[in-house]
Amino acid sequence: MKQLAIAASLLLGSITAFADITIKDTYKSLVDKKGNITLPENYRQNWTFLGTYFVKGAGDSMAEGAPSHDVHTVYTQPDAAAYYRKHGKFPDGAVLLKDVNGTKSEPLTTGLASYEDAPKVTFMMVKNSKNRFPNNKAWGEGWGWALFNPGENKSQTTNWQGEGFNNCFGCHVPVKNQDWVYTQGYKTVLGK
Ligand code: HEC
Repeated sequence: MKQLAIAASLLLGSITAFADITIKDTYKSLVDKKGNITLPENYRQNWTFLGTYFVKGAGDSMAEGAPSHDVHTVYTQPDAAAYYRKHGKFPDGAVLLKDVNGTKSEPLTTGLASYEDAPKVTFMMVKNSKNRFPNNKAWGEGWGWALFNPGENKSQTTNWQGEGFNNCFGCHVPVKNQDWVYTQGYKTVLGK
């Protein structure tokens, strides 16, 4: 009896652990009725890692000769990645997350190496194939657009065609014909 109870609680535990990571849960747990977007938990541990962009941004200080600058790491739900590999596009409910972190550099036995330092900002896109929220300006062109400051799970984006970091539109328009996603950086995971 005791063993049964343990087995049942293990099973329940694993169901809850993975309950928040499928595309079917997106509009239940991450997006409310008005289109407000919440940052998911533990995506770095549980989601599929898509790839990394190393970016030498303007204005930030950089150690002399350091090989990289900010590091952008991108994640999606495992079933969104599997769908993309099969169909060549992201399904409704797919979530893309991009963490921007600073880097530290030091000479290691491999050479001059850089690794992730403190988080700076997190960007999130939510695939919306059903034209939900036509009057919410954080939504447009088949995606919901959100950004989060470190340690916060409430989006700072009210208009995806806004200013600065909120000019999602202006910065993603070069990849409009790739469904607004910089997929060239994720080929090792998503295929062509
Ligand atoms: C300064 C230009 C710029 C702005 C502003 C910007 N993006 Fe991006 N975004 C990019 C570029 C370029 C990439 C891919 C390469 C990289 O990270 O440098 C990217 C990648 C992403 C990714 C990873 C998936 C992908 O498309 O490759 C997400 C998610 C994302 N952006 C969301 C947003 C959201 C949401 C906003 C607005 C709140 C936004 N971005 C604003 C330029 C920008």
